[in-house]
Amino acid sequence: MTGEPARLLVLGANGPTGRRTVEQALERGHHVNALTRHPETFPIRHDRLHVTAGDATDPAVIDAAVANTNAVICTIGAAFTRQPVKVYSTSARLLVDAIGRHEKRRLIVVTSSGLGPPQHSGVIGNFFRVLMRDHVGKTVYDDMAEMESSVSASDLDWTIVRPPGLTNQPGIGYAVAEDQIEGGICSREDLAAMLLDQLDDDRFIRKVAAMTSPGMTASARYMIWHEMLKR
Ligand SMILES: NC(=O)c1ccc[n+]([C@@H]2O[C@H](COP(=O)([O-])OP(=O)(O)OC[C@H]3O[C@@H](n4cnc5c(N)ncnc54)[C@H](OP(=O)(O)O)[C@@H]3O)[C@@H](O)[C@H]2O)c1
Repeated sequence: MTGEPARLLVLGANGPTGRRTVEQALERGHHVNALTRHPETFPIRHDRLHVTAGDATDPAVIDAAVANTNAVICTIGAAFTRQPVKVYSTSARLLVDAIGRHEKRRLIVVTSSGLGPPQHSGVIGNFFRVLMRDHVGKTVYDDMAEMESSVSASDLDWTIVRPPGLTNQPGIGYAVAEDQIEGGICSREDLAAMLLDQLDDDRFIRKVAAMTSPGMTASARYMIWHEMLKR
């Protein structure tokens, strides 16, 4: 894309990252189709915004939503659970099929730094990472990994974005690198900005982009309470 306004489909639009992505996309002049299962709670109104009610695991919903767009950003998320999770992989497969069928190209999906190589965060950091990846969040991470597999096996112009732990703190500007970056916390405002910047940036096409808000911190207690237990 070359800087002109996009017709953008945002999945997970009613989540905390999705709402920020929709807001910033509208500020940048894009036309946005926001997909949510709960349109009655979606707070944003705008004349360039269309809100679509639907489930991202429904093939008909995804096909119709993709038909009228030229770029897709997926911020869909699931809470940690012991039950099998399928929303990441199912929506990814449907998106890849629909985007190809409608002869579109650009797909940007959010997964997690938990799928990337370990950071240099010491024994406690790595213990926490293994606990999350292989125990507490195993079914979520396994499904995100499936999402990454189907997206990266496609011939679309895809970008996989892996943020670390997210917070609602104001953005401070993000840092991004291929595959790996140091930093355990990211502002959702920064993540939204990074996702939208990809619409005019070819550097991470067909690549995994690791991103963070450099220097941002949050206590383990805050992250456990706000990002794991209260979700
Ligand atoms: N929280 C963290 O610390 C963290 C860390 C790294 C990566 N991530 C990833 O970053 C992304 C954004 O996370 P977030 O915490 O801002 O958002 P989130 O709370 O994980 O949720 C995003 C939204 O996904 C939507 N969703 C879930 N299942 C759906 C379905 N079947 N169909 C349609 N929509 C569905 C929900 O909206 P509706 O209910 O309105 O449909 C929800 O509000 C996610 O991919 C998450 O896994 C999070």
